[in-house]
Amino acid sequence: MNAIHVRGGNPLFGETKIQGSKNAVLPVMAAALLIEGTSVIENCPRITDVFHMQQLLEEIGCKIHWRDRSLYIDAANVTENAMRGELVTGMRSSIMLLGAMLGRFGKAAMNHPGGCVIGERPIDIHLEALKQMGVVICEEECFFTATAAHLTGTVITLPMPSVGATENVILAAVMAQGVTVLKNAAKEPEITALCDFLKAAGAVIEADSFAESTLLIRGRRKLYPISFRIPTDRIVAGTYLLSVLGTGGHIFLKDAPVKHMKALIQLAEAMDAEVSVCENGITVLAEGIHKTVPYLETGVYPLFPTDMQSPLLAVLTKAKGKSVICEKIFENRLRIVPELRKMGARIEVKDNMATVYGVEALKGTRVEALELRGGAALILAGCMAEGETIVENRQFIERGYEDIVRDYGNLGVKINTA
Ligand code: UD1
Repeated sequence: MNAIHVRGGNPLFGETKIQGSKNAVLPVMAAALLIEGTSVIENCPRITDVFHMQQLLEEIGCKIHWRDRSLYIDAANVTENAMRGELVTGMRSSIMLLGAMLGRFGKAAMNHPGGCVIGERPIDIHLEALKQMGVVICEEECFFTATAAHLTGTVITLPMPSVGATENVILAAVMAQGVTVLKNAAKEPEITALCDFLKAAGAVIEADSFAESTLLIRGRRKLYPISFRIPTDRIVAGTYLLSVLGTGGHIFLKDAPVKHMKALIQLAEAMDAEVSVCENGITVLAEGIHKTVPYLETGVYPLFPTDMQSPLLAVLTKAKGKSVICEKIFENRLRIVPELRKMGARIEVKDNMATVYGVEALKGTRVEALELRGGAALILAGCMAEGETIVENRQFIERGYEDIVRDYGNLGVKINTA
């Protein structure tokens, strides 16, 4: 019951509508904590990461309800500033609540998000940046407290443009005394969405036009409840765009956030897909036989996103020749390779580099999703394979894809959860 069954080997045809963005909605939900009133977040994806963030917010006192895809978050009477337990340790995005709670209360206590494994997705950049704003951190094993008697704006230069650390500094800085200048900030579209939400609520955040990676945040503005629409998900849209490269076919991705998908669209065109962009989406036409990618590195926005690396790897398993992909952001993002090999893929891995030798055909078999994007990539591989592919652990995929079975079904794939 926990698996997804895909019968592959056919081209994709049809239209599917792209859901709201996971990576945009999570920090916006955290930001709602800064507003004493009810924020309305429209176009929320119904995914487990959102449900977990909802539960965390409810545990600290927010009143939340859904109406269709709108999420109403009333943070007027929040008093609790400590979070413990599996929801915190199991979801890295719970770290977003650190900046928000510091902004709201000047104090926060929580388990180390995403577990205590040192070296695996650390939060040192978040903590160092917040310390520069006057936050004192006391760590004991897997738990830490953060206190700021006076949260104060200052000049912070991130050692690397971490998405989460940028969001955390913004959340704290809008409530801090004075001006925060954040240098080497991340520029992902999800950062823009967070800033747009906060600015609409009354915050003052400016991007320095002379140095695009610098944000200037003027603190202590009163924030007011607003309605805000979450942009659509560039990673979900990208997964389906790549799928049609792998299988061939002709699809329309309604509401795909075209302007945030430039790196992927350029790559798809270089691999011989025909991509046409219109006001409300993207049409992709592909023959199912595509070129290799001689060398590609993942990078920070606007470079090729690390979240698209596993789906691309799956597509390249059937390219005519050798491709090389270098993962530059996360050390653990080539875990899908042994699963693709079970399907007949020829991939060699050395450190963070995967060399893919295209094969004639993939064969459907039983494979295991180990994380979100790798799991979606296995479904994609299943669409390209002969026979039936059974992808176990669909709970990982449901963290970020609202209903991947519905979406691929709309594109003509024989897919079910039986
Ligand atoms: C966010 C996205 C994720 C995406 C990633 C990179 C969300 C919910 N998740 O994750 O989908 O793949 O951006 O675009 O938006 N690092 C440190 N110390 C820190 C913070 C990060 O060493 O304190 C390292 C990480 O281990 C990783 C790299 O920096 O190797 C990038 O991490 P970061 O940009 O922070 O990604 P996330 O915000 O976790």
